[in-house]
Amino acid sequence: MSQQDRLVIFDTTMRDGEQSPGASMTKEEKVRIGKALEKMRVDVIEAGFAAASPGDFAAIQAVAEAVRESTICSLARAVDRDLEHAAEALKKAERARIHTFIATSPIHMQYKLRMQPDQVVEQAVYAVKKARSFVDDVEFSCEDAGRSENDFLCRIIEAAINAGARTINIPDTVGYAIPEEFGYKIKTLLQRIPNADKAIFSVHCHNDLGLAVANSLAAVANGARQVECTINGLGERAGNAALEEIVMATRTRHDLFNISTNIDTTQIVPTSRLVSSITGFPVQPNKAIVGANAFAHESGIHQDGVLKHRETYEIMKAEDVGWGANKMVMGKHSGRAAFRSRLEELGVTFDTDAALNEAFARFKDLADKKHEIFDEDLQALVSETINDSAPETFRLVALESHSAIGETPVAEVVVNHNGTEKRAKAQGSGPVDAALKAIDSIAESGANLQLYSVNAITQGTDSQGEVTVRLEKGGRIVNGSGADTDIIVASAKAYIHALNLLLGSAERQHPQNDGV
Ligand code: KIV
Ligand code: ZN
Repeated sequence: MSQQDRLVIFDTTMRDGEQSPGASMTKEEKVRIGKALEKMRVDVIEAGFAAASPGDFAAIQAVAEAVRESTICSLARAVDRDLEHAAEALKKAERARIHTFIATSPIHMQYKLRMQPDQVVEQAVYAVKKARSFVDDVEFSCEDAGRSENDFLCRIIEAAINAGARTINIPDTVGYAIPEEFGYKIKTLLQRIPNADKAIFSVHCHNDLGLAVANSLAAVANGARQVECTINGLGERAGNAALEEIVMATRTRHDLFNISTNIDTTQIVPTSRLVSSITGFPVQPNKAIVGANAFAHESGIHQDGVLKHRETYEIMKAEDVGWGANKMVMGKHSGRAAFRSRLEELGVTFDTDAALNEAFARFKDLADKKHEIFDEDLQALVSETINDSAPETFRLVALESHSAIGETPVAEVVVNHNGTEKRAKAQGSGPVDAALKAIDSIAESGANLQLYSVNAITQGTDSQGEVTVRLEKGGRIVNGSGADTDIIVASAKAYIHALNLLLGSAERQHPQNDGV
């Protein structure tokens, strides 16, 4: 297949996606997502921003070691320290890419960088050459290209390609572009830059106006051959273009686009669920491709039509994107070896026998309550085991709640706080409210609850409820998650997880802070 017929899929769930407030991921979680993306045959995985923090650095290293088929990429501002960190983190990758960037719009150059356009070009060339001294595969991005002048873009991109960049990325950083305009920008750049044929042109669109996918597709129609996107459209502010929508739009309308991706589309739904469960960001039911209602036909007319001839109302097959693939995988009688082997297939390995034993004990508890265990249950269970390996200031020991029609709900909890067991009781508008109030009377966190959501992990009333709790304190936002067949217990676990995160994790550097 020629370069013109092929669309490169660059996933940035673990970098731009992680920039969503509260969506930070641990090293182990990134490895699991990396393995799922590899299984989906994503071409390039941006695993993080190596200079952001030691945690980000270690996560990129771990993904680079675990994932062998996809190219692994680290973001780096156009400065020595970032480029050196990126190169070091990627050392063990089978295929490594450094993605370096600098802002090119008048507003960013003047107010953020405080640099003249000539200096910006010089810095870009320096960074691309330095990145090329470490790896062959270098991508250069013009931050805020959506609001940059085309004359200046032509100048800096030509220089970056001459310096050795193989991919040129045109981000609509602030989600300001409109499809026709953005498509025209790509066409203009491809026509006007004399060495444009020496690089693949890429786009990276944000969704502030709800146009990220439309802008990316307009760019593809005008010659872009890489799209940067994220699972479930996760990403800074309103998010990035959703991978599943880009892939399925170009596939379903191959008649228009005439290009193919390398993606195994049956992995889309399982990967969407994995990312949702790890980040605690639920997928809205009407979300295209991966929402619970995306293939559900409610009206009688539609149902009748679909039964008579599927294509009357369906443009894609649910099974092609991985719906219906969730099968009962394990039960009460499954042994430790089967448990370990199924988790390995899901990309989860345990560092120690003790960690495996702990997860297996949780599995047995769950299997006592719920006869059929699905992959989604295993993923939630493993997320909890991994959550629990983070420093625990608080741990839920016991919970009892009571609610009845006409009575005020009440909950009593026992929480272990740094080794000391504390008991508290509270009333609330419902049993969940009462349980969370009781926990907070022990924690005295002073945090603001920004989001509380419950999702059924699988079908049936015996499903585990997966709860997300978002807390904010002093401008820091964290998402805690917890799963249980009892949603009051799941809620308490999620709240305690969020409290531990709020007290625990270290600050990270944001890549779009001025690094020059
Ligand atoms: O949105 C953006 O401009 C980015 C770049 C760093 C590629 O995320
Ligand atoms: Zn971005």
